[in-house]
Amino acid sequence: MKDVELVIKSNKKVSKDIYLMRLEGDTSEVKNCGEFINITLPNHYLRRPISVCDYGTDHIDILFKILGHGTKDMSEFEVGKKLKCLIGLGNGYNIKTDIKPVLIAGGIGIAPFLSVIKKYNSLGIKPTLVYGARTKDDLVVLDEMKEMADIHMCTDDGSYGIKGNVVDLIKQENINVEYYYACGPYRMLEAVAKAFNEGEVSLEARMGCGFGACMGCSIKTTNGPKRVCKEGPVFKGKEVLW
Ligand SMILES: Cc1cc2nc3c(=O)[nH]c(=O)nc-3n(C[C@H](O)[C@H](O)[C@H](O)COP(=O)(O)OP(=O)(O)OC[C@H]3O[C@@H](n4cnc5c(N)ncnc54)[C@H](O)[C@@H]3O)c2cc1C
Ligand code: FES
Repeated sequence: MKDVELVIKSNKKVSKDIYLMRLEGDTSEVKNCGEFINITLPNHYLRRPISVCDYGTDHIDILFKILGHGTKDMSEFEVGKKLKCLIGLGNGYNIKTDIKPVLIAGGIGIAPFLSVIKKYNSLGIKPTLVYGARTKDDLVVLDEMKEMADIHMCTDDGSYGIKGNVVDLIKQENINVEYYYACGPYRMLEAVAKAFNEGEVSLEARMGCGFGACMGCSIKTTNGPKRVCKEGPVFKGKEVLW
């Protein structure tokens, strides 16, 4: 974990209420796909945890959806603004190379998967991405992703792709899920973990400190209580007591 000051290089609206922001500075502490950062926002007491969407040694990209006042403020931040961030938080995904990975995203849960897809591509593997959202406007396929993964999409209202959820889509299209990596709403993660044998889920929790000190983000697992910010946010799907 490192406390750094990062500068906003760009902040673009990519869909209704969804923004892609590039932060530049010393980001060498980010080591793994699926980690998150915790951003101090002026006039807000608690930091806001946001997944690393993509990263290099001098930048982090984040993809965020306006949910409340904090993310609304973030959407209005201008290029050049400095943000204090804790980076290098959480464990991240365990990138396995002996399987054909299936990435399963729900809504803004797509955020960590750009770096996961890039990582697999660098290893010569084109992953499958199963991506669901409530409606078409909530689906954000970043241009770079299109050639890098086999993408299957669905929406709850049928406005894009098949009408249904990600588990329906996987069954309907006979996608073989040998090992999955999932990120999205809690109920989606629960359904995925119960439908398929092996894989990892990235959980969200209301966070206080964000680095293991307050126990505010504990969840129940088969191995006792665990902190989403420290032992997570990625857990084995079968380990979580849903
Ligand atoms: C590990 C992790 C990764 C995340 N990654 C992303 C991401 O990549 N993109 C994205 O859009 N969102 C992500 N979220 C959710 C994001 O943190 C919340 O949407 C954001 O904190 C809401 O802040 P707000 O001020 O706009 O909303 P408000 O509702 O006004 O926030 C009120 C308070 O609740 C807390 N809070 C609200 N929702 C959440 C939540 N789901 N998790 C934790 N704290 C919350 C806020 O920190 C704040 O203190 C992530 C959450 C976690 C835990
Ligand atoms: S948020 Fe404090 S321990 Fe996780």
